[in-house]
Amino acid sequence: MSQRIRSVRGFNDIPPSESAIWQQVEAVCARVLASYGYGEMRLPIVESTDLFKRSIGEVTDIVEKEMYTFPDRNGDSLTLRPEGTASCVRAALDTGLVQEGVQRLWYAGPMFRHERPQRGRYRQFHQIGAEAYGLSGPDVDAEIILMSARLWKELGLKDVRLELNSLGTPESRGAYRQVLVEYLRQHESELDEDAKRRLDSNPLRILDSKNPQVQAVVENAPKLADHLDDESQAHLDAVCAILDESGVSYSINPKLVRGLDYYSRTVFEWITDTLGAQGTICAGGRYDGLIEQLGGKPTPAIGFAMGIERLVELIKEEGLARESSAADVYLVAVGERAGQAAFALAEKIRDAAPGLRLITHCGGGSFKSQFKKADKSGAGLALILGDSELDSGTIGYKPLRGQGDQETLTIQELLERLADQKPVGH
Ligand code: HAM
Repeated sequence: MSQRIRSVRGFNDIPPSESAIWQQVEAVCARVLASYGYGEMRLPIVESTDLFKRSIGEVTDIVEKEMYTFPDRNGDSLTLRPEGTASCVRAALDTGLVQEGVQRLWYAGPMFRHERPQRGRYRQFHQIGAEAYGLSGPDVDAEIILMSARLWKELGLKDVRLELNSLGTPESRGAYRQVLVEYLRQHESELDEDAKRRLDSNPLRILDSKNPQVQAVVENAPKLADHLDDESQAHLDAVCAILDESGVSYSINPKLVRGLDYYSRTVFEWITDTLGAQGTICAGGRYDGLIEQLGGKPTPAIGFAMGIERLVELIKEEGLARESSAADVYLVAVGERAGQAAFALAEKIRDAAPGLRLITHCGGGSFKSQFKKADKSGAGLALILGDSELDSGTIGYKPLRGQGDQETLTIQELLERLADQKPVGH
């Protein structure tokens, strides 16, 4: 036997037992996003490297050390997208959507970051994101947050909480940055290497350091909230007022700064305590400067993205994964003639009952061995075709999970019954 080639570290397979939960999440998201008037944007996986450098920021973890960047055959530097916001802006500019006015968009798909893999953190992971362009008021911030809250409601998730903050305008943040750096310099000896490195490049990120020693320094640092400009404060208050009235609870976390550079004003994260260290299932915020920075007219924007792996894990932890099997009905066909006739019959059943998941037994074998397979398939119903049924134009109808006795039906009766019946496994 030759040596097996394994998957690349941090890149996962999703077998059918898992993908059923993914489909559950994707279906709810597609329905909820559409119900708020968001249209799907399908984006390429590869972009010019400069797109991410210019948007996410040169001195962020993502751009500094996590991107999958490579020269293509004619020497252009390309990158597997580490997130969707920059790509979505690029696409909305390229397709002329931004120029047409207000846009509400969503996207889904794999993203790539060369992080250290652990539970809830992978090198290929999947996001579903939503972005709104052309609206500057707090109303759309609230809409975006309410929409995410509805996703959890429809998925049935209980253990999620919302944290909210405002990063202010670039000007007020710049002023705060100076005050913060001055304070941190006075405590430089108490900082770790990572925080020291960030002092010059991205000092605000030191605020959400996980190191307890750094946290102790941060505890007494000047607060971003105390340096917020009046308009940003009023904007945040207005978002909160709509959330209050709509019954969405939240807490203001003054240390919430986010790891990407493009944010301004409102930022938020949905966090669960069920999943350990990687508990942020959804994150986003306003990025009013980004569209202009990427070559468009000044256009306000806000959005979020959720991590599907983390959502799926949470659904499992909360016991919300729907029971799933591969089949509703298993067609047992014993004998050579019946084995052959089974396929034409199966096609008739599919015509009469579209959506019914029907497995036709392949590979012959005894009645007993076929029945074992029927049972293992998870189907709720076995249909039995043997030579005698074939000769009399009938079929055996046997519920597999204790829902009544075996019956003999004509083919017509069978088709009518299956057409009426809701698929067992749905
Ligand atoms: P982000 O915080 O980098 O934001 O990622 C959003 C979500 O993607 C995270 O909260 C997490 O659930 C998931 N995620 C991120 N990295 C990983 C990973 N390595 N493994 C598994 N899941 C992960 C953004 O990407 C922004 N584009 C969000 C946004 C949209 N802001 C405005 N619009």
